[in-house]
Amino acid sequence: MVSKFVKVATVKDIPDGQVKVFSADGVPVLIAHAAGRFFATADLCTHDNGPLGDGSLDEYAIECPRHGARFDVRTGEVLCLPAVVPIPTYAIEVRGEDIFVGIP
Ligand code: FES
Repeated sequence: MVSKFVKVATVKDIPDGQVKVFSADGVPVLIAHAAGRFFATADLCTHDNGPLGDGSLDEYAIECPRHGARFDVRTGEVLCLPAVVPIPTYAIEVRGEDIFVGIP
C-alpha cells in the first residue's frame, strides 16, 4: 500500500535501456527505463544483497552483477537462479517530465 508519492528523477535522467538508483525519502529505489516505460524496484538482490543498480538491463530483465540472478523489473519475479525470492516493486507515476515513486 502506497503512503505517498515522492519525486525521484526526471525522464531525461534515465536513457532507454538503462537503470539508475535514486533516493526516495531515504529509500534506495532502482528505476528502469525499458521499452519506453519506467519501472521501480528495490536496489537489493534477494540472493545476497547485491546492488542491482550496478547490473545490466536486457529488455525487462535486470541481472545482478554479483552472481547473475535475473529479475523482471515489471513484477519483481525471479527469472534466473541463484535468487529464489522476488524483489519488491514500487508504484511509479510519470507526471510530465517528472518521475514519482510510491513509498509504502
Ligand atoms: S547477490 Fe545477486 S545473484 Fe548473488
